[in-house]
Amino acid sequence: MDLEAKKKVLRSFTYGLYILTARDGEAYAAGTVNWVTQASFTPPLIALGVKRDSHLHALLERTGKLALMTLAADQKAIAQDFFRPTVREGNTLNGHPFEPSPTLGLPLLTELPYWLEAEVRHLYPGGDHSVVVAEVVGAGVRYEAKPLVMWDTGWFYGG
Ligand SMILES: Cc1cc2nc3c(=O)[nH]c(=O)nc-3n(C[C@H](O)[C@H](O)[C@H](O)COP(=O)(O)O)c2cc1C
Repeated sequence: MDLEAKKKVLRSFTYGLYILTARDGEAYAAGTVNWVTQASFTPPLIALGVKRDSHLHALLERTGKLALMTLAADQKAIAQDFFRPTVREGNTLNGHPFEPSPTLGLPLLTELPYWLEAEVRHLYPGGDHSVVVAEVVGAGVRYEAKPLVMWDTGWFYGG
């Protein structure tokens, strides 16, 4: 295989940027992710690639629950704050306010426009990332916004 071509092809995929969260009691994890897609209408499934050695992976595997929020186009700085380990101080994660989601009690960052909560239905140990398939059980819209798009950030996570 032409490895350079493989990298370029995989990086040509269009991605949004999201904050993924999980929680087990007082343990919280939140991270910026881009490997996300809807995968079924009925039931409403999403699929995500989640780094196996991350705290996020450990918590969502243990609890079977996750929350996902879409970043708005002007929230690149928030995305950057969630590349690093999660620090919870009161009602903030990495300095950003959160509230518990209504159905599963997972942290929702209140600055982000769109959110959902989901229950893990399948976890395939693909490689360095697991393929997580989860069913959406709750969703909300705080305000309408254009989403942050990977291509516009100049960042890459893929190849
Ligand atoms: C541009 C970018 C995109 C990322 N996308 C993903 C992703 O799709 N899945 C993932 O598991 N980690 C992704 N990461 C890494 C996570 O942001 C990072 O591992 C996580 O915040 C740290 O998790 P932890 O503190 O739970 O270990 C990405 C990192 C960057 C810089």
